[in-house]
Amino acid sequence: MSGDARKTAEGLSYLTGFGNEHASEAVPGALPEGRNSPQRAPLGLYAEQLSGTAFTEPRAHNRRSWLYRIRPSAAHPAFTRTGNGAIRTAPFTETVPDPNRLRWNPLPEPPTGTDFLAGLWTLGGNGDAAQRTGMAVHLYRADASMERVFSDADGELLIVPELGGLLLHTEFGRLHAEPGDMALIPRGVRFRVELLDESARGYVCENYGAPFQLPDLGPIGANGLANARDFRAPVAAYEDVEGPVEVVNKFCGNLWTATYDHSPLDVVAWHGNHVPYVYDMRRFNVIGTISYDHPDPSIFTVLTSPSDTPGLAGVDFVVFAPRWLVGEDTFRPPYFHRNVMSEYMGLIEGAYDAKAEGFVPGGGSLHNMMSAHGPDRETFDRASAAELRPQKVDDGLAFMFETRWPVTLTPHAAGATHLQQRYDDVWQGLERHFRAR
Ligand SMILES: [Fe+2]
Repeated sequence: MSGDARKTAEGLSYLTGFGNEHASEAVPGALPEGRNSPQRAPLGLYAEQLSGTAFTEPRAHNRRSWLYRIRPSAAHPAFTRTGNGAIRTAPFTETVPDPNRLRWNPLPEPPTGTDFLAGLWTLGGNGDAAQRTGMAVHLYRADASMERVFSDADGELLIVPELGGLLLHTEFGRLHAEPGDMALIPRGVRFRVELLDESARGYVCENYGAPFQLPDLGPIGANGLANARDFRAPVAAYEDVEGPVEVVNKFCGNLWTATYDHSPLDVVAWHGNHVPYVYDMRRFNVIGTISYDHPDPSIFTVLTSPSDTPGLAGVDFVVFAPRWLVGEDTFRPPYFHRNVMSEYMGLIEGAYDAKAEGFVPGGGSLHNMMSAHGPDRETFDRASAAELRPQKVDDGLAFMFETRWPVTLTPHAAGATHLQQRYDDVWQGLERHFRAR
């Protein structure tokens, strides 16, 4: 099963670049020339615009695509409510916001036959999906490919695989995402997830706010951090399927279902900049000190969702990729700190340099607004005494969803059996060394 699917994935090709106007056609001549909505679209296709931002937003932020499809999206029956499973949506009001530092082990195994959608498990979040502010942290665990199609009207989905490859069949074509990649499905784009391995596990940031964009670089210059050319959008590919297809739509926190008489992944050509994409996080151009101290972790920002306050993100996606540490007279692991932003961290592989143990791939930690955190005792002792030679940190890949509001947990995250009970202990052994003279 996975062998054939992986072969399919190997044959994929991509358009590269972030935020550009891309164009792709699966059949030559499917894309109209010179106009978006001609009187008769080529090849008998229907023309349809998908808006990711308001029509009137500034050009630099405007996102939309034109789709040329076998049937218009409007041709569908009524949606009816279906169960939400373990998916929850902002506003999160079922638990009291928790100031404690929290850490989870990986999600337990799912029941056999769980697909990506059924395997989504919401940890918590903030904001209000209907107000298009804030975000949610989800994890997923699946052992079956999706037969159904999903779309999320509440936000874009930033998917971070940790175990198992994914082949994302989207309206725009197919994307291949392995552990070490991140994939993004824009708001409203329909897709289904095919597993390339026996099972899959990972993380999802659902961003209700402004679409993720590359951060400005300021004095860094024209290059660096995540380079636009490394983001890959799919080339057009379509399904010409007549027959019942279940389509699930997430809308204002609830799942709704309808059975179409055709596949909605029937886009033969498209152009625009509201497109899904994948990015290999190992291509991140890591910038750090070559003198002393180290910059704040914002230097590791891959993508940012800006808010109405300049420089203050609704949510940032941050990656701690392999890098050299060379700072002189510098405590090199992440420093002790308290942050007005709230930090959810996950680990894709290996180890994270601020924690000796307990933070494992597939697990996660939450350090909410102003909660004190930093290296554990073992890491502090080691780093304080280490000889400061150039050192390569290359045994792990960690990431962070950093958000402007505290993350309030779902009841199932607050009461999870895989929530660690003694996380505070990692800071308990830090002795006093102070001597006044
Ligand atoms: Fe932090």
